[in-house]
Amino acid sequence: MEHDDTDPVSARRVLITGAGGQLGQALRRAFAGDEVIALTRADWDVSFPPPPGLPPLDLVLHAAAWTNVDGAEDDPQAAAAVNVGGSAHAAELGAPVVAFSSDYVFDGRKGAPYVESDGPSPLSAYGRTKLHGEAAAGERAWVVRSSWLFGPTGHNFVRTMLRLGAERDEVSVVDDQRGCPTYVGHLAAATRELVDGGAPFGVWHLAAAGECTWAGFAEAIFAQAGLDCRVRRVTTAQFGARAPRPAYSVLRSEKGAPELPHWREGLAECIARIGAAT
Ligand SMILES: NC(=O)c1ccc[n+]([C@@H]2O[C@H](COP(=O)([O-])OP(=O)(O)OC[C@H]3O[C@@H](n4cnc5c(N)ncnc54)[C@H](OP(=O)(O)O)[C@@H]3O)[C@@H](O)[C@H]2O)c1
Repeated sequence: MEHDDTDPVSARRVLITGAGGQLGQALRRAFAGDEVIALTRADWDVSFPPPPGLPPLDLVLHAAAWTNVDGAEDDPQAAAAVNVGGSAHAAELGAPVVAFSSDYVFDGRKGAPYVESDGPSPLSAYGRTKLHGEAAAGERAWVVRSSWLFGPTGHNFVRTMLRLGAERDEVSVVDDQRGCPTYVGHLAAATRELVDGGAPFGVWHLAAAGECTWAGFAEAIFAQAGLDCRVRRVTTAQFGARAPRPAYSVLRSEKGAPELPHWREGLAECIARIGAAT
C-alpha cells in the first residue's frame, strides 16, 4: 500500500483500486495533487469487502477489473466476482465512485457512434460483467465508459504490436472492428476534468477522438515506432478469438463530456514514454 501525503489542508483523499494496472498508474499521475491511497491487487482484492482501517475518503477511482476478455468466456463467475462484486465493494467505501466501464457493453449493430443514452446489449461474458458492474457501483457514481485502452505499461495492443513488429516481417490483424484507441494518460486527465467540473453522476463516454480498425491502429504503431513490419488484414472470423466483440464501438458523448485528444496524439505520447523508459 502506498500513501502519498500532499497538502493536508486542501487535498482530497482519493483511493485508487487496481493502482498497478495501466489506467491505475495513469490515474496516480493525474491525481498526484490529491492525497492518494493507491491500492494494488496485493493490497486489496476487490472481490472481497474493503480492508479494515481505511480513513474517510472523498473519492474512489475504481480501476481494478478482470480485463481478460477471452478468459471471461471460460470463467464468467470469476470475472463477475471481480467486475460486479468489485464495483459493489468500491461503493461500500461510502465516497463517490468513478467506475470505469467499456465499449464492450454494446453489440456494435448501431453502426454509428454510441452515446450515453444508447441501450447496452453486450455480446460477451466480459461485457455482461462490466454492464452489471456499472449498476453495482450505485447511485453516487460516475460510470466512465472508454475503449481500447493503451499505455506505456501493462498488457495492451500497442505493447504487443511493438514486440511482434520487432520479431516478425508480418502480423495478421483484425480489420473489421472499429473503435477509438484511447491513451490512458488522456483518459485519466479527462476523468479528473469530469469530476472537478462538477459533472452529475451517471454514465459518461470518454474515448479518444478519431476512430480506426485494429489493423489501421497496428499500421500507425509500426509507422510511429519506425518498425518495418507489414499488416495482413484479416476478419474477426479468420482471427478466431474466443469472445465475440462488437464490430463497431466508437464512443461519443451527447452530454458534453470532456473531449480527449485524437488517438494518434495518444499513440505518439505513449511511444515517446516507452522510448524514454528504455
Ligand atoms: N483495457 C482496455 O482496453 C479497456 C477498455 C475499456 C474499458 N476498460 C476498463 O478500464 C479499467 C482499467 O483497465 P486497464 O486497461 O487499466 O486494465 P489492467 O491494466 O488489466 O488493470 C486492471 C488492474 O486490476 C487488477 N485486478 C485484477 N483483478 C483484481 C482483483 N480481484 N482485485 C484487485 N485488483 C484486481 C489487475 O491486477 P493484475 O495485473 O495483478 O491482474 C490490474 O492491475 C477496467 O475497468 C477495464 O474494464 C479497459
